[in-house]
Amino acid sequence: MDNDILKVLYSKSEIQEACERLGKEIKDFYGDKVPVVIGVLKGSIFFMTDVIRDADMYMELDFMDVSSYHGTTESSGNVELVTDISTDIAGRDVLIMEDIVDTGRTLQFLIDTLNDRGAKSIKVCTLLDKPAGRVVEAKSDFTGFEVPNEFVVGYGLDYDEKYRNLPYIGVLKPEIYTNN
Ligand code: XMP
Ligand code: MG
Repeated sequence: MDNDILKVLYSKSEIQEACERLGKEIKDFYGDKVPVVIGVLKGSIFFMTDVIRDADMYMELDFMDVSSYHGTTESSGNVELVTDISTDIAGRDVLIMEDIVDTGRTLQFLIDTLNDRGAKSIKVCTLLDKPAGRVVEAKSDFTGFEVPNEFVVGYGLDYDEKYRNLPYIGVLKPEIYTNN
């Protein structure tokens, strides 16, 4: 897999440091509250488990799968709910865990959906924020790193479902996706 990577953006240890920082920020923010932490599948799984292990606090976990990318590096524009949470979030503090906020469409869809169900508060924690990709307004409350406008993979992020298990975050060589 390493041969397909143009450059490493964040190493394993830089990511771990960011996760520890975010875990502490989240614990400080929620205090004695017990949020429902919703991981957005599949990209956020490594990030979510690492961050919450460093947040010494009570919380409930659930998962949602939404999709907007269909094996390409471009967003299709419409977001669909693939797998729903089973938790009733009415009146609850919700923390969304995302891998990356790019166009912002996924986040907007998630926030609208969870607001409609009566969440008391909704906050967002994302590993990566790509501000240059923004099409709709969307803001992260707890952010790992800001990334340039390049397609990144690793540590949960995929290209065509591969590279999620890379221990670092890197930029994919353009020929990998232009040859397909
Ligand atoms: P939007 O555009 O809705 O994107 O903010 C959110 C989802 O799109 C995927 N995404 C990426 N996946 N490298 C990836 O592997 C990227 O550079 C990238 N940009 C967006 C991702 O699933 C994210 O949750
Ligand atoms: Mg995603």
